[in-house]
Amino acid sequence: MTKPIYILNGPNLNLLGEREPEVYGTDTLDDIRRALEAQAEGLGLTLVFRQTNAEGQLIDWVQEARDEGSGIIINPAGLTHSSVALLDALLAVDIPIIEVHLSNIHRRERFRRFSYVSRAAAGVICGLGARGYGLALEALADMVEKR
Ligand code: DQA
Repeated sequence: MTKPIYILNGPNLNLLGEREPEVYGTDTLDDIRRALEAQAEGLGLTLVFRQTNAEGQLIDWVQEARDEGSGIIINPAGLTHSSVALLDALLAVDIPIIEVHLSNIHRRERFRRFSYVSRAAAGVICGLGARGYGLALEALADMVEKR
C-alpha cells in the first residue's frame, strides 16, 4: 500500500474563512480537507491533513513525513518568508514536495515575494485559492506514481 500524502498547513490557516476573506477566500480549512479527501479517494491515495501555529511542530511533521509519507503538500503560511529551519527540514526529505499558497504572493507586499521553502519544492502553486491544493494533489499523485 502507498504511504499517505502529507498536507501540512502553517500558522493562522486554522482561521481560513474568517481571516481576510478578500485575500484568502471563504472556504474553511475543513472545507479544503473534505474536498481533498474526496479527491484522494478517487485517486486511490490516503492523506494526513494537519495544521499548526507552531514552527517546531511543522518541522516535526515534515520529519515524520520523511519516513511515513510518499509526498508533501505544504502551505507554510507566514513561515514561508522567514523559516530557514523549515527549509532545512524540507531539504532533508527525499519525497516530492509541492508548495501551495491561496493568495498570489507575488502581487502582495514585497516581503511575501521571497520564499525560503521554494528551494525545496518541486513546484509552487499560488493565487488560485483553495483550488491550488487540489491541483497540487493531482500533480503529486502523478509524481508519486512515477517514482
Ligand atoms: C499564504 C501567504 C502567506 O504570505 C501568508 O503569510 C499566509 C498565507 C497563502 O496561502 O496565501 O498566512 O501562505
